[in-house]
Order: sequence, then C-alpha cells, then structure tokens
Amino acid sequence: MNVEKYRKTFERYLKDVTFPEHPENLYTPVRYALETGGKRIRPVLTMIATEGYGKSVVDALPAASTVEIFHNFTLLHDDVMDHASLRRGKETVHKKWNKNIAMLSGDVMIFIAQKLLEVYPPYVFRSLQSLLNQTAMEICEGQQMDMDFEESDEVALSQYMEMIKRKTAVLLGTSLQYGAIIAEKNAKEQYVLYEAGVHLGEAFQIADDYLDTFGDQKFGKEKAGDIKEGKKTYLYVKLLEKLKDKVKNEFVVLYNKKDKSDSEIKRIIRFFSDYGIPLSAKNEIQIKTQQFINLINSTMLDAEHKKLLINMAEDLSERVV
Ligand code: IPE
Ligand code: IPE
Ligand code: MG
Ligand code: MG
Ligand code: MG
Repeated sequence: MNVEKYRKTFERYLKDVTFPEHPENLYTPVRYALETGGKRIRPVLTMIATEGYGKSVVDALPAASTVEIFHNFTLLHDDVMDHASLRRGKETVHKKWNKNIAMLSGDVMIFIAQKLLEVYPPYVFRSLQSLLNQTAMEICEGQQMDMDFEESDEVALSQYMEMIKRKTAVLLGTSLQYGAIIAEKNAKEQYVLYEAGVHLGEAFQIADDYLDTFGDQKFGKEKAGDIKEGKKTYLYVKLLEKLKDKVKNEFVVLYNKKDKSDSEIKRIIRFFSDYGIPLSAKNEIQIKTQQFINLINSTMLDAEHKKLLINMAEDLSERVV
C-alpha cells in the first residue's frame, strides 16, 4: 500500500463519521472544516504505525480520526488568533461565519475527537486519552508562546524551537505513538516513535514557515501572512542571528511594524533571500528529517512500513525544494 491508499481509506472512514444536524451553526462548520481536506498527515501516521506492528489498519481508524479532528479544532482557533482568511484555498470558518462560531465549533471538535476513542479496550483507551490530554495542554502552551512572541522583537532560535515543538510537533509525535499504543507495544517503543514524530513535526513547522513566505498558490493560505502578522518564524529568528547593529535594528523595526505595505513586505523577503535564510531552512529541515529516519529505523516496525514513513517524510521535506 502506498501513502495515497492510506489517505483514501481514511477519507472513506471519515465520511461515515456522522455529526448531529442541529444546531446547524455548530455542526455545519465542523463538516465544512473536515470536508475541505488537507494532507491528512496525522491520521496516516497513526494508520501506518498501527499496521507496521502487525495490527489491522481498521483498528487505527477511530484514533486516526481523533488526531485529524483534533488537528482541525486547532486550525479553527488558530485562524482566529492569526487573523487568517484563507485555509486550504477556502475561506476560514471565522470569516465564512464568525469568531464565536469558530470558537464553539472548534470546541465541540475536541469532544468529538475524544469520544471516538471510546471504542478501544479500557487499557488502550486510557493511554490514548492520557496522551491526548498531555498533548492538548502543550499545544495551548505553544500557541500562547507563538502569540507572546508576536509582541517580542528578540526571540532566540532555542525559544522558537521550544514553541514549535509544543504548537505543532507533539501532535505528530502523538499520532505515531497512537499506533504503538493500539498495537500494545512497550513504553520504550512508544517513546521512540513519539520522539521520531516530534522531529518530523519540527521539520514540518519549519517547512510551513518557509512556505508561508516562499510557497506558491497551492499552499492554500494567504501569502506572507506570517510577515503581515509579525510572526516570529524560523526565517525571522535565523535572520536575527546573522544581523548586527544598525542593519539588525532596521530589520526589526520594519518587520514589527503594523500594517506593512507591499513594498515593505518585499523588502523583508529580500532580507531573507540576501542572507541565505531559505537555504538555512532547507538544511534544518533535512537535519530533522534525517533524525526522524534514524529513529524510525531503530523501531520494531516492519521494513515495509518503515519505508512508507520515510517516503512520507521525504515527500514533506521536498515541498520546500
Ligand atoms: C497546518 O497543518 C498547521 C501546522 C501545524 C503547520 P497541516 O499543514 O497539516 O494542515 P492540513 O491539514 O494539511 O491543511
Ligand atoms: C500552526 O501554526 C499551529 C497550530 C495550528 C496549533 P501556524 O499558525 O503556522 O499554522 P498555519 O500556517 O496557520 O497552518
Ligand atoms: Mg496560523
Ligand atoms: Mg498560528
Ligand atoms: Mg504557518
């Protein structure tokens, strides 16, 4: 099976997950968010890991839906926080409806995601639930750090790495560990899988930051949204490491200005290019992807499924080539 087949299997399953009809303004946005697609990376990770331990992919599907629905909840709230109007090439929920609806439809998705875990045997359920709760807290911590950094000029690379680990990477770690939990693997095996997913998630968020500025239309989000919002992205923190004195000051003031003009945004992008930041991002993504591959190779997953995961990571890192 290639990765596309897992995705299709997941889509078929998700289509049959039904939501109540009423109140319409609560559940229509939920359906809208889930039907606008996305790459489905997290559920596919859960499915491949479960199967790679000799269990049926069918056993993975409810938990795979949990991580995907949970992820989509974070997007509904994230788009409010980031004032984002476009996601997957479509209007974001808070733009199409309003902020209150984005909040509450997002909230209900958390509980739908948790409820899906109830089909697992008590021991497995408990582990899945406990990991999700821990991860959910860390995502909130990461999202708060992300917002705090908007108000701060000096963000060190180490602080940025802490932030993206929480807001993004831990959910990819969880998605992989879910496979090991469902297959009832021991704590050490679970931990290696989780750590692998965290490395992949870090590569993934750096790629997301890169694509926000240097990606094309296919990315489905408003171009340079991070620059407009003054986000402390990988590009920003890496450039700050390279700049000194007057030039650094000039860049910091420019980047952190409210309501930047198109030409100011172009100047910021030129700064990144002139200092070789796109290449630094690509190198960092390669390093993190390699760490992921090394950890995956050290697990008890079978060779075929290791290869699938590695191919998936390589495809993700190639998005920035
Ligand atoms: C977007 O995640 C949010 C980040 C963590 C960067 P994805 O890029 O996985 O979003 P979809 O689900 O494929 O649209
Ligand atoms: C995503 O960070 C983190 C979460 C959604 C938890 P971003 O804000 O960079 O994600 P996008 O770019 O809007 O998808
Ligand atoms: Mg965002
Ligand atoms: Mg955000
Ligand atoms: Mg982003």
